[in-house]
Amino acid sequence: MGAGKNRFVAQKVPLRPRAIWSTSRFQPKLLKRSYKVSFPVQIDEKVNVDKLISSIKSRDYTIGIIGLGYVGIPLALAACRAGFNVIGFDIDQARVDQLNRGESAIKHISTIAIDEAVKNKRFVATSQFDRLTDTDCIIIAVPTPLSKHREPDLTYIEKTAETITQHLRKGQLVVLESTTWPGTTDEVMRPRLEQSGLRSGIDFFLAFSPEREDPGNEEFSTSTIPKVVGADGEDALRIARAVYDALIVRTVPVSSSKTAEAVKLTENIFRSVNIALVNELKLIYDKMGIDVWEVIDAAKTKPFGFMPFYPGPGLGGHCIPIDPFYLTWKAREFDVTTRFIELAGQINTSMPHYVVDRLAEALDRSAGTGLSKARVLIIGVAYKKNIDDMRESPSLRLIEILEARGAQTDFHDPHIPVIPMTREHSALAGRTSISLSHSAVSGYDVVLIATDHDAVDYKALAASARLVVDTRNACARRDVVSDHIVKA
Ligand SMILES: NC(=O)c1ccc[n+]([C@@H]2O[C@H](COP(=O)([O-])OP(=O)(O)OC[C@H]3O[C@@H](n4cnc5c(N)ncnc54)[C@H](O)[C@@H]3O)[C@@H](O)[C@H]2O)c1
Repeated sequence: MGAGKNRFVAQKVPLRPRAIWSTSRFQPKLLKRSYKVSFPVQIDEKVNVDKLISSIKSRDYTIGIIGLGYVGIPLALAACRAGFNVIGFDIDQARVDQLNRGESAIKHISTIAIDEAVKNKRFVATSQFDRLTDTDCIIIAVPTPLSKHREPDLTYIEKTAETITQHLRKGQLVVLESTTWPGTTDEVMRPRLEQSGLRSGIDFFLAFSPEREDPGNEEFSTSTIPKVVGADGEDALRIARAVYDALIVRTVPVSSSKTAEAVKLTENIFRSVNIALVNELKLIYDKMGIDVWEVIDAAKTKPFGFMPFYPGPGLGGHCIPIDPFYLTWKAREFDVTTRFIELAGQINTSMPHYVVDRLAEALDRSAGTGLSKARVLIIGVAYKKNIDDMRESPSLRLIEILEARGAQTDFHDPHIPVIPMTREHSALAGRTSISLSHSAVSGYDVVLIATDHDAVDYKALAASARLVVDTRNACARRDVVSDHIVKA
């Protein structure tokens, strides 16, 4: 495609009369209609960036969000609150239907907010991707897991890019938010999108803006967490900033998409390495009879140069155990080994084994029995407190290791009544949470606190339990202290 030449292009032209759009609020049915025509498109006709920015400011601008999960739904709600009309896209029809009924698909996300957005016709969910032509901006929040061989699995991003390519139209902004290795937006997204015949930075605009969502964190929400934005060129950056400026407390522009991608990985690698460090300190201090929690609480009174991280039974979630290995993989292309990242991974993945060893020792000391045939009650299978997300949760590893050593396990989790199907722990799917009562708890040889949900009464739990192994300092933090509570 030569720059400066006009050509005939088949384009999907949405039937979207501006007059109707701007006077009658959100019209999902109207928006749905589009038809294919062939007509001469002046591909060298420059998109008017100032005009796009004023339509963002006047909210005559529709935001599309692909991937309606932990990231996509809060983002959609933030955009609705900021006065935009939002179309959410997902391949999961059940999730689409649930959202269109005004119901939350995720426990900590308010049903009220979704219901309100649907009733006000600000938000509609769909699995019909031809409706991408009805949007002015497309934000992508699809999963980025690791493959079986622990390498980046970009199939969700690739498929999404290919779908967008079929519907891409002039002037649209495409923003990738999924966490990924530096270079993905330029090397994976851009070439696919340009197969549409449109050019990045001229006909459409491309950016990367990492998500910093922290589910369950009551202090921060999507719109109050500053957002980093990097883009393919000046115009793309201006447009992407204008969109996020309207939604988020502060946007932080960086020089390129790959810098923005590196920012996200750096944040998560920083966490992974520091958590590994305190996990290692826990092993050393345990042997020395020093309480690592007391050490951290005292150290954090230093007003500069120290930031507290806390040990635990291992890493969980969709981010910290996974994202660092996106950089490890990409670094190989540059002949660099990521020793810190891999060492942190080794320490963190060894923690469930350490916890089980400590639990076996504690059982031996308190009851003179080993693990074999011991009845163990695990408190919490979510990967962190107060949420219903159990992706990569260390509790699942704890159950597997305990059972491989002959123990019988049950679990209690106020947020997860049934263990769902997971790729790596499918044998545990369908197990159900038991209710806590004095007679139930006292029947177990040991209670293992793996997640410190606030909804658990730790005082009552400790009073009923024969032995407690606490990996989160959940009891001591609530002044529940006793000889039969062991930290691990
Ligand atoms: N969950 C978080 O707190 C968090 C925080 C920061 C970054 N991230 C990153 O954000 C991205 C999304 O994570 P998430 O936790 O929201 O994932 P999620 O699994 O909760 O949601 C992803 C959604 O995408 C949908 N989906 C999958 N393939 C699709 C496709 N081809 N087209 C349309 N929809 C598709 C799924 O059905 C699902 O509803 C990941 O890269 C993750 O690493 C997540």
